[in-house]
Amino acid sequence: MDKPKINFNEIKISSNNLFLKPLSKENATDLFALHTDEEVQRYTDVDIFKNLGEAQKFITEYTKTAEKAEFLFLGIFSRATKDFLGTIRLYHIDYKHRFATIGFQLAKDYWGRGQMHESLQAFLKFVFGELGMHRIEAQTFVENKRGIKVLERLKFTREGRLRQNFLIEDKFEDSYLYSILKEEFLKEAV
Ligand SMILES: CC(C)(COP(=O)(O)OP(=O)(O)OC[C@H]1O[C@@H](n2cnc3c(N)ncnc32)[C@H](O)[C@@H]1OP(=O)(O)O)[C@@H](O)C(=O)NCCC(=O)NCCS
Repeated sequence: MDKPKINFNEIKISSNNLFLKPLSKENATDLFALHTDEEVQRYTDVDIFKNLGEAQKFITEYTKTAEKAEFLFLGIFSRATKDFLGTIRLYHIDYKHRFATIGFQLAKDYWGRGQMHESLQAFLKFVFGELGMHRIEAQTFVENKRGIKVLERLKFTREGRLRQNFLIEDKFEDSYLYSILKEEFLKEAV
């Protein structure tokens, strides 16, 4: 499959209560706060920004390269308040075999309210629909109970345990590999 003719800078995905769109410069402070919250980042593999400038640079660089459609990074926002809740990213995008990997994180204030569930349902609908993907993967550290719950609630299948494939704070950690196929998502989607 060729790359779809979608400019990643122009994507906007809506659900009942939320919308997903690329970040702009005004979101740098929120992104910096999210990426430097130790509890949020404990089980993730995102870039930890050293200062606000690095968060600003990340957003600027993303805007410059997004049209290549190689990496998708969206903010999650409340429709009612326009508050920033978190982010979802799609990486390792393989248009030939139509698979990619997702990563996701919410600011702590929004945990436990089903906001990521709603965001990912809308995101996966877009990814399997407009973006033409067939298989979506996710990796989560074996101790990340909340991450595991999110994936299993969305009916991802655990395919196996990857032994010591992440080096975290000088310690090699195991992770689970999960996936969901387009037909499985369409069957489960509400
Ligand atoms: C992983 C993470 C996004 C999960 O957040 P979350 O709020 O627990 O996830 P969801 O949006 O699916 O919400 C589920 C919770 O909301 C509750 N909930 C309330 N209303 C709900 C609704 N309408 N639909 C679904 N769940 C609802 C559920 O009961 C559940 O609570 P529980 O965990 O106490 O059972 C969050 O913990 C996080 O950002 N962690 C740090 C980053 C991270 O680990 N990312 C994943 C890497 S793989």
